[in-house]
Amino acid sequence: VIHPVILCGGSGTRLWPRSRADKPKPFLPLIGETSLFEQTLARSADGAVFAPPCIVTGAKHHTLVASQIDPSSSAQIIVEPAAKNTAPAIALAALRLPRDAVMLVCPSDHHIDNTTAFVDAVQSASILAEQGHLVAFGIKALTPETGYGYIKRGDPIGGGYAVERFVEKPDIATAKAFLADGGFSWNGGIFVFKTGVFLEELRAHRPEMMAAVERAVANGRSEGLVFYPDAESFGGIAGDSIDYAVMEPTTRAAMVPVDMGWSDIGNWQALRDARPRDSEGNSLTGPVDAVDCTNVLIESDGPRVSAIGLDNVIIVVDGDEILVTTADGAQRVGTLKGASAQ
Ligand code: GDD
Ligand code: MG
Repeated sequence: VIHPVILCGGSGTRLWPRSRADKPKPFLPLIGETSLFEQTLARSADGAVFAPPCIVTGAKHHTLVASQIDPSSSAQIIVEPAAKNTAPAIALAALRLPRDAVMLVCPSDHHIDNTTAFVDAVQSASILAEQGHLVAFGIKALTPETGYGYIKRGDPIGGGYAVERFVEKPDIATAKAFLADGGFSWNGGIFVFKTGVFLEELRAHRPEMMAAVERAVANGRSEGLVFYPDAESFGGIAGDSIDYAVMEPTTRAAMVPVDMGWSDIGNWQALRDARPRDSEGNSLTGPVDAVDCTNVLIESDGPRVSAIGLDNVIIVVDGDEILVTTADGAQRVGTLKGASAQ
């Protein structure tokens, strides 16, 4: 079986005002009735393929996590004493799972349209993981996005490819060169490997981080299915992501290409594109009256919003805040006063 490890850490200020410090992006029903976190759990819930999940989250979000998991499930929760980015979070889970277990690391804030394609790709990846590879998923690169990792395909192996290069968050000129090259995919931020292989690579490339996480686990305490790593050992870690700490330097990476309708819903424009839309391309939620509008996302949890003749505009009413932007402006929502002042 494959052990799903769900990372619930980030804040998601770019989806302000829906996403706020006290109800961040993973826990909101942004597409459909359930939250992105609940949908992430549901994708890896087939007991024939997956073990019960291990959820890694901060103390701030522990209650939200607990309220969104089935109380009868045997999910483990690891409560981080501080946010140190993804490499230490994954190391905590790897140390708590059986040494030879294959783990599937999933962000809790992505959307995936095609669950069957996802599970198939994870199963191909788990064969490569059994052979000692750290497997990433290659998403077809469409734009020179600088917020993603890029994977250069090497020789075919198993159901995927060796990784020739892994480059996290390149600058725009490099991203454009990668796109023109054609041999690069985006990194989907989902990984499959054996716990022991990940820990060996972390020890090789970030020995201090590895030692600190080991101390945090050795000195941690369990309360039923909840584990609290030691705050002093964990708090001293210099945080870093798996992408920089392990995937860039390792020589054991592999990649499985997958076409599964993936979106990391990085902003309101991406959310509009990931949602089902009407024949005019509009996504309208709540009391909205949109006349002669095209490609708009308008949603309100309170007052009626009436709009005429808009194209490519986003309007979000949430409690005491209103956001109005063009789709292009959606990239910069995180820099607004309201979004950064939370
Ligand atoms: N538990 C925990 N603790 N989770 C965390 C922490 C932490 O300290 N930091 C981040 N996370 C969670 C986030 O909530 C998110 O679900 C996931 O880990 C990835 O973190 P992000 O901060 O969103 O990473 P990113 O988007 O900049 O980059 C990653 O994802 C891209 C695709 O969306 C990288 O893997 C890129 O290479 C990749 O292209
Ligand atoms: Mg992200």
